[in-house]
Parts: sequence; structure tokens; C-alpha cells
Amino acid sequence: MSKISVIGAGGRVGSGCVRNIAEILGKKGNENTKNTLAMIDIPQALNLMKGMAMDIKDAVLNDVEIFASDNRADIAKSDIVVITAGKPRGPGMTREQLLSENAVIIKGIAEDIAKFSPDSKVIVVSNPLDVMSYVTYTTMHKISSKVGREIVGMGGVLDSMRYRKFIAEAFNCGIKDVSGAIVLGIHGEGMVPIESTVRLKRLKIKEEDKEKLREAVKKTISAGKTIADFGASAYFAPGAAVARMVNAILEDTKEILPCSVIPNGKYEIDDELFIGLPVRLGKNGIEEIVELKISWEEKSKIKTAAECLTNNLTHIFI
Ligand SMILES: NC(=O)c1ccc[n+]([C@@H]2O[C@H](COP(=O)([O-])OP(=O)(O)OC[C@H]3O[C@@H](n4cnc5c(N)ncnc54)[C@H](O)[C@@H]3O)[C@@H](O)[C@H]2O)c1
Repeated sequence: MSKISVIGAGGRVGSGCVRNIAEILGKKGNENTKNTLAMIDIPQALNLMKGMAMDIKDAVLNDVEIFASDNRADIAKSDIVVITAGKPRGPGMTREQLLSENAVIIKGIAEDIAKFSPDSKVIVVSNPLDVMSYVTYTTMHKISSKVGREIVGMGGVLDSMRYRKFIAEAFNCGIKDVSGAIVLGIHGEGMVPIESTVRLKRLKIKEEDKEKLREAVKKTISAGKTIADFGASAYFAPGAAVARMVNAILEDTKEILPCSVIPNGKYEIDDELFIGLPVRLGKNGIEEIVELKISWEEKSKIKTAAECLTNNLTHIFI
């Protein structure tokens, strides 16, 4: 029996996560071993979530129990808590204002996870992702001595999915032909799509084709903005990315996924912060940070991203 809670589930990304996770939980359980999904949000979103829960259940048509609540105590005994709550950037609002307002929301949520479900693994989705993952960790660590390996941010999985798609488009080949498309660093403009690991049908990219790869890199970095420019926002793909991480933890797959984590000296980053690095994700959360064979230049870009994140942490007023 597994229980997953999504906080912010009345929103676009949260409900997208619930839909995808419901599919995974359905495959694990049956009518006798019920798996549970808790949709948690503020009171104003409660009725909306009740309707969503019914619709999602109809869509997945399996034995998972989905319920809506505005009481965070209902996350108790979750295996995994996913945080998608937060405010979008309003008109005239600076990035720093958004950062400090969301930090206050995430801090409150992290306090409640520490109180009601301290043993859960936590997947942070709210933006700015790496900073919100850090806020979740520092808050929970103070209250429940939560260890860093149990808290991961989802950003790199989504960015890597986009990178893989753009590479396939650039080279006019199938998505399955592309491997090694991984995005590290900051989830945002400071992301570092890695070029040296990319393979097409298991072969390295030829020198004369590198320009095509760089086009895919540029499109990956601006993918979120491109979607926003159409008046849309990303929630289908973030939902799928979170579900992949949930599955890795529940099924202990130990697959390598790019997640926002505390580097602990890996990639020559000693600062206490969260940044996207390749990790083996399994039942304990981060089983290992994997040191990939990437170029010196790529390593140095990741270090620069870490310096930028350290600077961002000075804008949090909590
Ligand atoms: N990491 C990623 O790859 C990624 C991708 C897309 C979006 N995001 C981020 O995910 C977050 C959610 O985006 P969205 O499009 O779903 O926004 P949204 O506005 O649709 O949903 C946010 C939800 O959070 C809820 N909420 C606000 N304060 C809360 C609180 N204190 N407790 C519980 N719930 C609360 C709101 O009621 C709302 O339902 C944003 O921060 C967004 O930037 C991250």
C-alpha cells in the first residue's frame, strides 16, 4: 500500500501530477491493497479539487483512492509528498518578490510535512525550483533533522525531456534514437544542457552536426517561455516528469535522473544549496550523485550556476 500527497493539487501542475501518479498507483494495487492519493490545497480550492478527483478517477479507472482536503494533517503517513503550491509571478512583481513570497508559502508547507509526515520523501516542484528545494530542506531539517537525500527538486527531468525532443527534431530522427540528453544546473535560464553525453543511435554527434545540437540547446533553455508566449503554461509534461520520479522511488528503480539536490562536494560544489545534478533515485531518495564524464567547460558552467544560486539565496527573507 502506498500513499502519495500532492500539496497545491488544485492548481494546473498539481492536478497534472495527480493524474499521472494515479496511473502509476493503479498499476501497483488492486481492490484489496488500496493505494491512496491525497489532493491538498487551500480552502478556496477544495470544491474544485473534489470535482478534479472524480474526473481523474474516471480517467484512470483503477482502484486508487483519491480524496481532496484543505487540511494538511491529511498528508499523514505519506510515502511521498509532492509540493506544487505557489504563486505565479503577478504584474509588476520582481523575481525577488516572487522568490520571497513563495519562500514563505513553501516554508509553511515544509513545517507541516515535518509535523504530520516527517518520514516522507519530498519532491519539490514550485519555482524558483532550486531555491524552494533549499527552503524545504532547511525548514524540515531544523524541525525533524530531515536528511538532504530525502528531498529532491523536479526540474531537470522536465528539461531533459524537452532537450531530447528538440534533438530528435533537429536531427529529424525518432525520440528513441536519442540518448544521453541530460540537463543539469539551475532549473531556469541558468540551466546547462549537456552536449558531450548526447548520442544518436548510440553514436557521438559529428563535429559538422554540432550546430544542430546547439539549436536544440537554445530551444530547451527557452522552452518554458515559448509555451508561455502562446498564453499556455506547462503542466502535462511536469506531471509526467514528477510521476517518473515517484515511480523511481516507489519501485526502487535507481535509475539516473537529473534532480535538484545538495551536491555535498560533487562536481566541486561545496556550498550548501540545491542544484540539478544526475542522481540515482530509489527507495531512500537519492541513492547516489553520479559523476558523469562531461567536458571541463560543462563542469565550469555548472559551478557558475551554483555561484548564481548562492547569490539568489540572499534574497529569501524567511
Ligand atoms: N519545476 C518545474 O519543472 C515546474 C514546471 C511548471 C511549473 N512549476 C511551478 O509549479 C508551481 C505551480 O504552478 P501552477 O501552474 O500549477 O500554478 P497554479 O496557480 O495553477 O497552482 C498553484 C496552486 O497552489 C495553491 N496554493 C497556494 N498557496 C498554497 C498554500 N499555502 N497551501 C496549499 N496550496 C497553496 C493554489 O491554491 C493553487 O491551487 C509554480 O511555482 C510554477 O512555477 C514548476
